[in-house]
Amino acid sequence: MTAKPLPMESKQLASFANTVGTPFHIYDGDAIKANAIAMKEAFSWADGFINYFAVKALPNINILRLLCKAGFGADCSSLPELRLASEAGFPAHRIMFSSNDTADEEFLEAFNLGAIINLDDITHIDDVIRVCKRLPETISFRYNPGNERTGNAIIGNPVEAKYGVTHSQLISCYERARDNGVKHFMLHTMVASNELDESYIVETARMLFSLVKEIHEKTGIRIEQVDLGGGVGIPYKPEDKPILFSSLSEKIHSLYSSMIEAEGLSPVRITFECGRCITGPFGWLVSKVRHVASKYKDYVGLDATMADLMRPALYGAYHHITVLGKENEQACHMYDVTGSLCENNDKFAVDRMLPEITNGDILVIHDTGAHGHSMGFNYNAKMRHAEYLIEDGKVLKIRRDETYEDYVRTQLDRPEEVRF
Ligand code: LLP
Repeated sequence: MTAKPLPMESKQLASFANTVGTPFHIYDGDAIKANAIAMKEAFSWADGFINYFAVKALPNINILRLLCKAGFGADCSSLPELRLASEAGFPAHRIMFSSNDTADEEFLEAFNLGAIINLDDITHIDDVIRVCKRLPETISFRYNPGNERTGNAIIGNPVEAKYGVTHSQLISCYERARDNGVKHFMLHTMVASNELDESYIVETARMLFSLVKEIHEKTGIRIEQVDLGGGVGIPYKPEDKPILFSSLSEKIHSLYSSMIEAEGLSPVRITFECGRCITGPFGWLVSKVRHVASKYKDYVGLDATMADLMRPALYGAYHHITVLGKENEQACHMYDVTGSLCENNDKFAVDRMLPEITNGDILVIHDTGAHGHSMGFNYNAKMRHAEYLIEDGKVLKIRRDETYEDYVRTQLDRPEEVRF
């Protein structure tokens, strides 16, 4: 089998799984911390550089605390994410609120917290004024380049995407913000998801830097922060090449020198909102085989379901699988690896070559550290499972399994009559 790293030695992981019970997600906090620091160091030339970690990728307070300590910010897209980031200790100026189709109470929470508000639509200017009585001193706008860029499968083609303000709306956005008392201006975009082509992200920087100039020329407004969004990809397949922070940073630096510094537009703070490339490769879903079944195809049925990881079912995404103890065996059997939902797309892999599998084998599904547990749901009354964190060499439980009591907590045993 082709190797991908495990969170600990194979035998140790099997023994841990047998002790705590499967399935569960486990994260390597030490590797996440080192990765966060590596990103910061790669961009150390950029004054005030920060990555606002996309909370939606891995919204566990223990992970957020760890990233806060490593100097990251938090990117929140909803009211509960704002509360979680705040509770995890992120100071308000390190919290970015990037939402879309935003509720009034979400704007109010972000405003009261003092987070940076990134507006997704021109009409949101009036919404914030109506709800918060004024605009905050600092505002950001999310740009949608339309036909100018191609986007990709997960995030969608910009011209078809619901996000952001168009090129023709952008100038009026900044002017109206200035006319309503805004003093500090930022620019944001998010045009790709899981992008492994470095040049695509460099082109995003070029696009935003040229907008910084255009906005300045047309309005006199200085953009103080350019947020390149998230979307930096990870090598889900063993043969994929990762994006290297050092190389990406070097190319963005060179554009910054020629397009910002040389044009007299500096300083502009460079920021990202990456989630996946920070925690994704450092999470694993560990699950046990319940049944191996032969029908028209051969199936491996796990105790995990797509409620633990829905990316393969939703996007046809590839997640590598290791069979513990069989790392050195030939991958000579073709299986569909499934969960137990009454949904035929409840599959972690289709037509995957693996070593011969028997009941009780432990399968490790790789790269579940972002958009894994967080996308879970309760269909078929499947409970979401525990999360563990390796920190300073110790394994800590950071979320327990959901229980039946959790599942029924919001149902009313005694229905209440609603008068209206
Ligand atoms: N910022 C904004 C405004 C976003 O919409 C997203 C992701 C991110 C940052 C973080 O993106 P990342 O660096 O983690 O790729 N659930 C999907 C991805 C959906 C992406 C939505 N936005 C997945 O499993 O691939």
